[in-house]
Amino acid sequence: MGKRYGDHHALRDVTLSIPEFQSLAVIGPSGGGKTTLLRIVAGLAVPDSGELSIDGQRVDFSERALLAHRRSIGTVFQAYNLFPHLTARQNVELPLVKVHGLSTAEAHDIVATLFERFQLSPHADRRPAELSGGQQQRVAIVRAIAIKPRFFVFDEPTSALDPEMTAEVLDFIAELRHEGRDLIIVTHNMVFAREVSDRCVFIAEGRVVEEGPTADLFSSPRDPVLAGFLAKVLRY
Ligand SMILES: Nc1ncnc2c1ncn2[C@@H]1O[C@H](COP(=O)(O)OP(=O)(O)OP(=O)(O)O)[C@@H](O)[C@H]1O
Ligand SMILES: [Mg+2]
Repeated sequence: MGKRYGDHHALRDVTLSIPEFQSLAVIGPSGGGKTTLLRIVAGLAVPDSGELSIDGQRVDFSERALLAHRRSIGTVFQAYNLFPHLTARQNVELPLVKVHGLSTAEAHDIVATLFERFQLSPHADRRPAELSGGQQQRVAIVRAIAIKPRFFVFDEPTSALDPEMTAEVLDFIAELRHEGRDLIIVTHNMVFAREVSDRCVFIAEGRVVEEGPTADLFSSPRDPVLAGFLAKVLRY
């Protein structure tokens, strides 16, 4: 799979087949192509070449099919992806009604249950600006859960958060993982990547440099670029 922006190759001939992934971490240096890859997986960008298979099924990148594909995936990018003029409750409820065709009553029940379960009920009627970064991100994750996605895609969901909020959101994602949900996460937090993922892919300069079980990648990286990257980022 390839993706270019002008004459810049964001991804070059990336082939990625993930045997029965449950939790995949995508790591690598800045500008390497991680977000580009995730946007393609989530149906938010179309590759210029190559193809993508998920669960052995080829993704159809026609505009019509993409719409359905996009709706089947729970996508959470870094902060600021809530609608600022809507309350926390409306942020979750409205997409269920307008995009997924649920009745208002059904949407209301789902939101009530999820907010209760994830300790968001006291914040339901606040707008994003009245919530902490961690609370906003939890609402964004609940919004993704509400649609019962096939799997989740997280792109640095904690990059805009302080350490305490980061821990809160990562605990939340770890909980999803323990429930057996499939997820793909881009993170610069190597401790978390190691803890939450079964498989890991290291991307640099638009290429998949190494891919395999997370424990193997971290304990015995084969590629010198990955070894150098880990040596650098695991120091702190
Ligand atoms: N819309 C765009 N237009 C032009 N170039 C882009 C665009 N999006 C990404 N790029 C370029 O493509 C390359 C890959 O970007 P990408 O965002 O996928 O990297 P990344 O691995 O997610 O980096 P980071 O860790 O900093 O988020 C970068 O060199 C980036 O500058
Ligand atoms: Mg990125």
